[in-house]
Amino acid sequence: MTPEDPASPAPPPDREERPDQLGQERRSGHPEHDETLDRLERAPEHGGESPLVVVQGLRKVYRSGPKEVVALADVSFEAYPGELIAIRGRSGSGKTTLLNQIGGLDRPDSGRVVVAGRPVTELPEPGLLELRRDVVGFVFQSFGLIPVLSAAENVGVPMRLSRTPVTERDERVRMLLSLVGLEKHMNQRPYELSGGQQQRVAIARALANRPKLLIADEPTGQLDSQTGRQIMQLLRALVRSEGVTALVATHDPALITLADRVLQLHDGALVTPDPSPATAPAPA
Ligand SMILES: Nc1ncnc2c1ncn2[C@@H]1O[C@H](COP(=O)(O)OP(=O)(O)O)[C@@H](O)[C@H]1O
Ligand SMILES: [Mg+2]
Repeated sequence: MTPEDPASPAPPPDREERPDQLGQERRSGHPEHDETLDRLERAPEHGGESPLVVVQGLRKVYRSGPKEVVALADVSFEAYPGELIAIRGRSGSGKTTLLNQIGGLDRPDSGRVVVAGRPVTELPEPGLLELRRDVVGFVFQSFGLIPVLSAAENVGVPMRLSRTPVTERDERVRMLLSLVGLEKHMNQRPYELSGGQQQRVAIARALANRPKLLIADEPTGQLDSQTGRQIMQLLRALVRSEGVTALVATHDPALITLADRVLQLHDGALVTPDPSPATAPAPA
């Protein structure tokens, strides 16, 4: 359910009726892929609902000269529609590497990722471009806004890339900026906005093309704790209102409470999250 629904009873069919990729990209002839699709269709363990994200046996090793760093070691998990998952772990634990493989920004050494029925790890470059444009919205620690463009123009960029008609684009820009509480600031450039406001613009931009998955890599890392908390609360509310799934990397323990689920990374592997530092086992 999107907030503009009551105001626009007849949404443009090309955007609202995006085909369910599971139905569209059925059999691939690739045995592993077909096996994943079968599991996506069954998914009995989550009320019969299919996972939006499937990560299986993901491994990524960085090599610099003779030195090898295992950034991801056999990471597997699934994320279901509408879930907000916090990915936690100290600096260097593999959070960014994991999110980059899921969003199609980088390729793993082995393992696979399926997002909304699309086999991300097997997609050729044009398929990855489309994935990043239409299926996944990204939010980064450093906001990543274009300095010479206004807030409204920044939010409009993904819709220019997807050739959304101009009136629809303007309407959605306005709606998104009001959703993040910035309708009064739409003509300001990034340098005329606070850090928290810039991140709100970036979040609005990430939602522009109605992504199914929102990937946020330490979205509050450059903000003070109070502003950071507001941004996380905004993400929490948007995941509910827009019906997206969100993967949010953070090492801020105060933000974990807002997540539906926490995945903890340690040296590139998923581990069972500690309930709290106080109850963690003492070192032997
Ligand atoms: N491009 C790269 N080249 C070499 N090593 C890298 C590269 N990117 C990340 N690493 C290493 O991989 C590990 C995981 O990094 P990263 O995913 O950025 O962790 P996090 O986001 O949790 O801080 C770290 O040891 C890091 O130094
Ligand atoms: Mg990182």
